[in-house]
Amino acid sequence: MSSIRALVVREAQDQPSITIEELDPATLAERPLKVRVAYSTLNYKDGMVMRGLGRLVRSYPHIPGVDLVGEVIEDASMTFQPGEWIIATGYRIGELYWGGYAQQATLDPAWAVRLPPALTPRHSMAIGTAGLSAMLAIMALEHMGVQPVNDAPLLVTGAAGGVGSIAVAIASRLGYQVAGSTGRMSESDYLTRLGATTIVPRSDLETGPERPLESEHWLGCIDSVGGPTLARVLAQTRSRGAIASVGLAGGAQFSASVMPFLLRGVSILGIDSVNAPQTTRTRAWERLSELLDRDLLDQLTTEITLDDLPGYADRILSGQVRGRVVVNLHPGL
Ligand SMILES: NC(=O)c1ccc[n+]([C@@H]2O[C@H](COP(=O)([O-])OP(=O)(O)OC[C@H]3O[C@@H](n4cnc5c(N)ncnc54)[C@H](OP(=O)(O)O)[C@@H]3O)[C@@H](O)[C@H]2O)c1
Repeated sequence: MSSIRALVVREAQDQPSITIEELDPATLAERPLKVRVAYSTLNYKDGMVMRGLGRLVRSYPHIPGVDLVGEVIEDASMTFQPGEWIIATGYRIGELYWGGYAQQATLDPAWAVRLPPALTPRHSMAIGTAGLSAMLAIMALEHMGVQPVNDAPLLVTGAAGGVGSIAVAIASRLGYQVAGSTGRMSESDYLTRLGATTIVPRSDLETGPERPLESEHWLGCIDSVGGPTLARVLAQTRSRGAIASVGLAGGAQFSASVMPFLLRGVSILGIDSVNAPQTTRTRAWERLSELLDRDLLDQLTTEITLDDLPGYADRILSGQVRGRVVVNLHPGL
């Protein structure tokens, strides 16, 4: 390929500037694994990177995109063969290192896993980091013995977002009663189609608890929201339950009583998809590939191109994106 299309972020005084450019592939960093990128995705973190928030990027110009799927062009480490398909997520791709918003990427082979045979490249990105994190959250809850029961739902907060939508779909498939909490009650039908049995208005949870221990509502929780919501859910989680803390869409800080830990044995489990070990990642991708209905995945996915991304950065940061957004690097092919 003589030139590649890429979304490039450059430092500017108040907000970084974003342009779509034709680049010489020789501009990419020297790394053993060279990939022709087919699809990337839009995650909350990509919105932050495009808008220069959270000091995630250390040097400019920068190519965002924390997820990518692509075909191997060459791999000097011989880990992968030309023509094989790989997925790369996390490891600070798209933050410290140039990411998936370009038609080519160079990677450390240790950052890549093989595309599971049962997944198409597009479906793998419909899952992406958000789906991987949702699966890691469920695996963490399972590890703590949080199993489906009939008399208490598993709560998913930020349910209509990327992590939330996939969490609802896989938890429901695994037999959990799923309560989806959303600030967009207009998405109730969407969440019901994904498998939610109860819809909880965000306003019920977004102020901290009135007492250290409230009525025991939740078997456990997959939480994308953090902040006071996490404190509220903690006070409402039933004995021996657990909360997988995935995100901070509603705030990074929370103030809570230790009573749920001491008197109910409730646990908060940290989910870090960026540095998850390779064996855990591979297992998570296998399970996602088995569990997720492809029609359902299509229903929760919007496909866009590089040119659409700047507008979508603001939309995801203001909680306006539903489900998952896949970025097609070669539209029209
Ligand atoms: N730990 C990890 O490894 C990991 C991996 C991926 C993502 N994350 C984090 O997980 C979170 C979700 O990521 P995502 O890609 O799913 O983003 P997303 O698609 O934007 O979903 C976030 C959802 O949270 C809800 N929300 C937004 N603003 C809110 C607010 N102010 N208060 C309460 N709820 C709010 C919205 O859902 P409703 O409209 O349904 O309420 C929104 O759709 C982000 O904080 C992200 O950084 C962490």
